[in-house]
Amino acid sequence: MTDEACAISDLDNILKRFGIGASALVGAGAEAQVFALNDASVLRVNRAGTLEADASSRIVLLNRLGSRSNRASFDIPRVRDFGFESGLYFTVEDRLSGIPVSDALVRLAGTGRHRLVHEYLEASLQLGELLSGETEYGELARDGAIRNSCFKTFLRVRAQESLRVRGLRIDVDRIVDAIEEPDQPKLVHLGYCPSNVLCADGRITAVLDFGGTTIAGNSQFNPIIAAAFLNPSITPAAGEKDQLQARGWLRERGLLETGFMVQKWLAAYWSFCGEDEDLPLYHWCLDILQTH
Ligand SMILES: Nc1ncnc2c1ncn2[C@@H]1O[C@H](COP(=O)(O)OP(=O)(O)O)[C@@H](O)[C@H]1O
Ligand SMILES: [Mg+2]
Repeated sequence: MTDEACAISDLDNILKRFGIGASALVGAGAEAQVFALNDASVLRVNRAGTLEADASSRIVLLNRLGSRSNRASFDIPRVRDFGFESGLYFTVEDRLSGIPVSDALVRLAGTGRHRLVHEYLEASLQLGELLSGETEYGELARDGAIRNSCFKTFLRVRAQESLRVRGLRIDVDRIVDAIEEPDQPKLVHLGYCPSNVLCADGRITAVLDFGGTTIAGNSQFNPIIAAAFLNPSITPAAGEKDQLQARGWLRERGLLETGFMVQKWLAAYWSFCGEDEDLPLYHWCLDILQTH
């Protein structure tokens, strides 16, 4: 039996146990497939090969952030149950309302689109407050997490780890020297992008995908990440106009210059995805690292 055929039957086993079929799928990403159990809950099945440490640290992180979720105007995933069956890790989570901003953008134009892009950008400003009591900088939910009492040291070590994946030779010190050391660690969601943010009626309803790409760092990163992911080459639903809007929004907040070097660090960080060199995100990384 091929790996793929094996993975399909393993997934079927879990779905059967929960009394649902593949048609209950409500969304999928690189890490997991998500199925509706009923109006109130979903079953999130991690893809084959997920490490136990990654699956469990995501749950621990979400529980931790859950105690601060009243600080945000949007919901974040809430885990009610978890398990391991047929070789796959799964969680039962509250069902969140809304559709991905990336899907909404495909259908929206004019002022409705402008407003949604604005809401998406603004919501990123709330992320920092989801974390409290953290004394170190670095990864919050990853097997072999890189952490340090100095944010810049974390940035340097983490970028170097990613760049090694494809043997990219980049002057990381020059990038990190230009980034500000914050007063205290705040939550930074390195995967805050239109496909990980849900919306309904022009409002942001939820932010997803906390886990391996969630760090304690400088909260200024969040709006810069939000803006960076409006690049059409990595978010096809976004257009040039959305990107211009994001740039203007960053400028109004005095983040355009900082954003330049933070974006370079992001490109160095995300270059680990170059394991699959055809990925548009990897091409974006090369573009940002080489041509600016
Ligand atoms: N709790 C939820 N309620 C409703 N839909 C969800 C929920 N969690 C995820 N989804 C849907 O599933 C998709 C993939 O989920 P996500 O957690 O982002 O997985 P991945 O980590 O693989 O990207 C999301 O884009 C969203 O459409
Ligand atoms: Mg996702």
